[in-house]
Amino acid sequence: MCEVSKKLFIRTYGCQMNAYDSARMAETLTPFGYAPASAPEEADLVVVNTCHVREHASEKVFSELGRLRKLKEERAARDGGRMLIAVAGCTAQAEGAEIWTRAPFVDIVLGPQTYHRLPELVRAATKTTRARALDCEFPAESKFDLLPAPGCDGPSAFLSVQEGCDKFCSFCVVPYTRGAEYSRPARAILAEARHLVGQGVLEITLLGQNVNAWHGEAPNGGAWRLGRLIRELAGMEGLARIRYTTSHPLDMDDELIAAHGEEAKLMPFLHLPVQSGSDRVLAAMNRRHDAAAYLRLVERLRAARPDLALSSDFIVGFPGEEESDFAATLGLVRAVGFANAYSFKYSPRPGTPAAARDDQVADEAKAERLAWLQELVARQAESFNARFVGRELDVLLDRPGRRPGQLVGRSPYMQSVHVTAPASMRDAIARVRVTAARANSMSGEIGEAQACA
Ligand code: SAH
Ligand code: SF4
Ligand code: F3S
Repeated sequence: MCEVSKKLFIRTYGCQMNAYDSARMAETLTPFGYAPASAPEEADLVVVNTCHVREHASEKVFSELGRLRKLKEERAARDGGRMLIAVAGCTAQAEGAEIWTRAPFVDIVLGPQTYHRLPELVRAATKTTRARALDCEFPAESKFDLLPAPGCDGPSAFLSVQEGCDKFCSFCVVPYTRGAEYSRPARAILAEARHLVGQGVLEITLLGQNVNAWHGEAPNGGAWRLGRLIRELAGMEGLARIRYTTSHPLDMDDELIAAHGEEAKLMPFLHLPVQSGSDRVLAAMNRRHDAAAYLRLVERLRAARPDLALSSDFIVGFPGEEESDFAATLGLVRAVGFANAYSFKYSPRPGTPAAARDDQVADEAKAERLAWLQELVARQAESFNARFVGRELDVLLDRPGRRPGQLVGRSPYMQSVHVTAPASMRDAIARVRVTAARANSMSGEIGEAQACA
């Protein structure tokens, strides 16, 4: 262990899994004297936790690295000190040592499966003034067994239960950057959940690239699936809310659907990406279900939990997508009625099958379809939120608002709700009467507060 106090700054891009990983990386370094820095210029070590899912995401990483290079040079000129720069995450995994071709000033490159080795890599990179270190293995040991237990940062926490993906959608880099599916054993997940609840956490979001494919070892041998795990968590005193993300329609089994109807702590909001409403495009994407199967699934989920709100991801301009395919996507959106959705222009990713197709869609068509889809989704979000005006919702007030005296939180349906409330109500679930609704947020008034467990 090192007694010298050092400063660490982590910049996180990408999904919630990366946010979870960044917190774990910080915790591996705490015993070695690293405390958080409030800005990169103050840091002795800057970790850039990267996302590779679209070209834009990975390009952002390189512009961030350009800015860090300047800070590194300024630091060396100022006091001769060395600011270490580490690149972690999915771009690091995809590019490995190639990162050094574009950014030779980077000191450490590490993939998502080797975060528990970060202190070792820091040591290796500081052996000499020019040393560098790389670790992009998929090691046999699980990082989850070796990373420290998470600290608590507010009333809402992520808990990673599953990682990697075996689905190989033809557009997606995740199976290559995160590797094969791995499910953590139930015992480890429950222990982490108990630890979080003991620290005052009220809401846990179970995370996985394919979270509903989770099939972990049960505490007494055998195997559980996600529905069973959720039931166990629902019995945990002090835990008020359970969510999970991201799910694949194919892995939505009966037990999980039933849990939506039976477990009040399982929140009535589900992110269930469909990507497209065209059967032809879905087949080319290797999603392995058609639009009708998705609609049937939505029906079964809503039969179990009638107020279930849904969100999805969509890709427009997948190779070969024609106007009629895009019209089918709009049709599916109208049929489902989403509370929210994220849509993206298809971005060809090196090494994925769809990138090699010779029927790529022109950018203007992609941009036009994206605008149509986003407008439809915004209208749906607005009308979904408008339904709540005049009604009461339980809101987990977890952050300050922009205006003084304001708190912001999430409703059960993941809506952002702004209220005027004393700071003492922060980190608790409050009953709020909704007074106004917009596409992206709502405002309300506090009723009676519910004390935090
Ligand atoms: N595991 C999740 C999400 C993975 S990535 C799932 O199965 O849905 C998050 C989202 O990014 C995807 O749902 C998809 O909509 C989008 N995405 C992935 N690869 C993309 C690409 N090459 N171009 C554009 N969007 C992409
Ligand atoms: Fe990517 Fe498909 Fe796996 Fe989701 S299910 S991570 S979109 S390959
Ligand atoms: Fe991006 Fe990797 Fe997550 S590619 S979306 S950070 S799994």
